[in-house]
Amino acid sequence: MAGNDETGRTRPAFPSKGRPVDAVLRELEARTERDFHYGDGRIAGSMISAPHPLTYDVFARALEKNVGDPGLFPGSVELELEAVHFLADLLHGPATAGGHLVTGGNEANIVAMWVARAVARGRGERRSRLLVPEHAHVSWDKAASLLDLDLERIELDDDHRMRTARLVDRLGPDVLAVVAAAGCTPLGCVDPIEEVGSRVQGSGIWFHVDAAYGGLVLPFLRNEAGDRLTPVFDFRVRAVDSITIDPHKMGLAAQPAGGLLFRDEAKSRAVEVAIPYLAGGKSSQATLTGTRSGAAALSVWALIQHLGLEGYRAIVDEAMEKTRRFAARVRASYRLELVVEPSMNILGVRPVRGDVPSFVQRLRFASWAIGEFKTHARIVFLPHLTDDRLEALFDALEEAASN
Ligand SMILES: Cc1ncc(COP(=O)(O)O)c(C=O)c1O
Repeated sequence: MAGNDETGRTRPAFPSKGRPVDAVLRELEARTERDFHYGDGRIAGSMISAPHPLTYDVFARALEKNVGDPGLFPGSVELELEAVHFLADLLHGPATAGGHLVTGGNEANIVAMWVARAVARGRGERRSRLLVPEHAHVSWDKAASLLDLDLERIELDDDHRMRTARLVDRLGPDVLAVVAAAGCTPLGCVDPIEEVGSRVQGSGIWFHVDAAYGGLVLPFLRNEAGDRLTPVFDFRVRAVDSITIDPHKMGLAAQPAGGLLFRDEAKSRAVEVAIPYLAGGKSSQATLTGTRSGAAALSVWALIQHLGLEGYRAIVDEAMEKTRRFAARVRASYRLELVVEPSMNILGVRPVRGDVPSFVQRLRFASWAIGEFKTHARIVFLPHLTDDRLEALFDALEEAASN
C-alpha cells in the first residue's frame, strides 16, 4: 500500500495491475525530462560522455547476453576476451597479460586489490597497508574498507603528482600495494610511474596503475605539432602488476564498461571461485559481479573495431585542441586561473578572487554541471562539449568569478 515516509513524501506501492506500454513510456519520458542530457552541452565536469552512436545498435542487439555464463554465450565471451586483449595490447601488455571487463573503475580497483591480497597471502604474507596518492579516487577507500587494509594517502608535489620521496619513506614489508594514477580524478595528472616502479620493483609490493580515465587518452596524446606526448605509464614499466582502464569514460563505450588488466593473468586466478550450477555448464569467476552485461562487453569490442587507433587518436586530438584553446583563454583572464597546466583533456579552474564552493554553487545555479574539488572546479573536455557550448561555459565561469 502507498504511504508517506518520515519526510512526508509518498512512497509508491508495487502496482497491482499493469499499464499499456505507451502509457509507461510516456510517463518515463516525462519523469526523466529534468535529467541532464549530454546533448544539451551543460555537463561540463563529468568523465562520461554520450556513448558513441554505434553502441546503441550493439546494445539493442545484445541485451540478452550474459557473459557471466560463458557456456551459454561462448561467442560473446570470445569477443569480450578479444576486447581485453586489445586493451592489453594498447598498454603494452606481455603475452601473459589478460583480465576482465567489469562494471567500472570502482570494481576494477577493488578486484585488483582483492587479487593483490590473495597473491600475498598465497606466499604466506599478511601485508595490510595500501599506499595511494592524496588525489586517489574514492574507490580506493572502498577497496581498503572491504579488504580490511590500512589506507595511507601520500603527499603531492607542486604539479599535483605523488611525491615519490614521501612514498619511499613509507615503504616497508607490510605494504600490500602502491597505487599511482595515470589521469588523476581532480586534474588528470599523471604520477611519476616509472620512478615509483623503480622503487617498488622486486619488493613483493603490488603496483597498480589507475588509468581508469587516462588509459584511453594517454596512448593517443600528441602536441600541436603532432608529436607523441605519451608518458610511459603502462606495462612497459616492469614493476606494474595491474592497470584499470575504463572504456566507458574516454573510450565512449556504453556503461557499464570498466577494464582491469593484469601483467600475468594467471595471478588473477588467486580469487577465482568455481560456479558449478550454471545452465551453460561449470565455470569460474574472478570478478565481483556474477551476471555481467554482454551488451556492454560487445559494445567495447565493436567500438575498438570501428574506431581503431586512428579513430581514438582523432577523438583525443579534438579534445586536446579544445582543452588548449580553453586553457589559453583562462590564462588570459583577469578573473580565472588554472590550478596546473593540463596533462590531458581535464582542466582545474578557480576564481582569482573568492572561494571555490561559492564559485561552483553559482555555476550550478546557472545550470552548469561542473565537478567540485577543494581547490578548483573541474572541466572535462569530452566530445559532447561543442565549441558554442564551451563559449557559453567560459562566459559562465567569468560571470561566476566576478561575483
Ligand atoms: C582515477 C579513477 N579511478 C576510478 C574511478 C571510478 O570509476 P567508475 O565511476 O567508473 O567506477 C574514477 C572515476 O572518476 C577515476 O577518476
